[in-house]
Formats: sequence, C-alpha cells, structure tokens
Amino acid sequence: MPQKRGNSKGRSHSGGKAPSRAPSGEGPAIRGARISDAADLAPLSGQLGYPATAHEVRARLERLLADPAQAVFVVEIEGMLAGWIHVMDSVTVESGPAVEIRGLVVDEARRGSGLGRALVERSEAWARERGVSAMTVRSNVVRAGAHAFYERLGYAVVKTQHAFRKRLA
Ligand SMILES: CC(C)(COP(=O)(O)OP(=O)(O)OC[C@H]1O[C@@H](n2cnc3c(N)ncnc32)[C@H](O)[C@@H]1OP(=O)(O)O)[C@@H](O)C(=O)NCCC(=O)NCCS
Repeated sequence: MPQKRGNSKGRSHSGGKAPSRAPSGEGPAIRGARISDAADLAPLSGQLGYPATAHEVRARLERLLADPAQAVFVVEIEGMLAGWIHVMDSVTVESGPAVEIRGLVVDEARRGSGLGRALVERSEAWARERGVSAMTVRSNVVRAGAHAFYERLGYAVVKTQHAFRKRLA
C-alpha cells in the first residue's frame, strides 16, 4: 500500500534536502529521508521482510542521518513515500572504498515502474559525489526478483556467502 506523506519537519539527509529528479529529468522525486518519515518508512521495512515500528525506525534514522558516511533516500509519488534506499560508504583493509546498498524496498503497489532503478541511480550519484567508484549489495538467495533487478542495472554476482549472527547478552 502507498504510504501517507510525512510532514516536512525534521532533519534532512546529505545529498537530498530538496526532492531531485532522476537523471533523465523526468523521473520520480527523490530526496534525502527525514526523521519525520519514520512512520512512512516502517511499513515498507515490513514489506522488505523486517517488520519495525515507527518508533524503532525513528531511532535508527536518528543514528543514520547523523552519520555523513550513510544516506537514506526516499521516493515520493503524489505526496506519498513509495520506497527507500539506505547506502553506506565504507572501506575495508582488504579492499578499497565502496558504497554498499544496505536496504532497498519499493512499495509493492508501485513496483515495476522504475522507482527501484531511480533510487539506485540516486545512490550511485551520491557515491560518485564522494569520489567512490564501486557499489556493492548483498542480497538474500531467496530474492530472485531482486537479483534480476540488480543484474538489469549492471550489477554482477561476485560471490556467495553465509551470514552469521550472535546475540550479545
Ligand atoms: C527489487 C525492487 C527494489 C525493484 O524495484 P522496482 O521499482 O520494482 O524496479 P524497477 O521498476 O526500477 O526495475 C528496473 C529494471 O529491473 C527489472 N526488474 C525489476 N524487478 C524485476 C523482477 N522481479 N524480475 C525481472 N526483472 C525485474 C525491470 O524490468 C526493469 O528493467 P528495465 O529497465 O529494462 O525496464 C522491488 O521489487 C522490491 O522492493 N522488492 C522487494 C524488496 C527487495 O527484494 N529488495 C532488495 C533487497 S536486496
């Protein structure tokens, strides 16, 4: 379901304070996320498979938007948030800098109309603005549709891996 529009208050993230158009000049409006978007982003997180409350998403946004190495962009359609992407600029000892797509979702009612591409292209532009020349993304093996999407956008599978997690008491 399309989400209700958030209000215009709250911090805006780097690179997207005002809505911008996709590179074609005719694409959807994309802007940096605001803290006040939390209630609209939370249901989309659920669609991604990670249910979260608006309160939880708000707390995460507060951390993310305070970090200049991370960005969250949203796409607005007719005043409603129709998708978001979270990217992080990082460097490791063994490989050079890269911007990683940490999360991406388009409202299921809006898929297939170029919004995912627009969000990724906005993130690629953000990477270039920072002088970063590589993008990465890790995607669950069950997300066959997402894999086709990334390949369509020029991304290639470079490896498969296991994801480990440990809860700290
Ligand atoms: C993956 C996702 C973000 C794609 O967003 P979208 O807005 O539907 O994708 P777009 O309309 O921008 O598609 C861009 C291109 O990818 C192709 N594509 C998109 N989804 C596809 C699919 N399931 N199978 C094959 N191709 C697909 C489109 O045909 C389009 O190709 P074109 O440029 O030649 O027309 C969206 O389907 C989604 O939110 N999925 C659920 C969450 C998810 O899996 N997120 C990724 C986690 S890693």
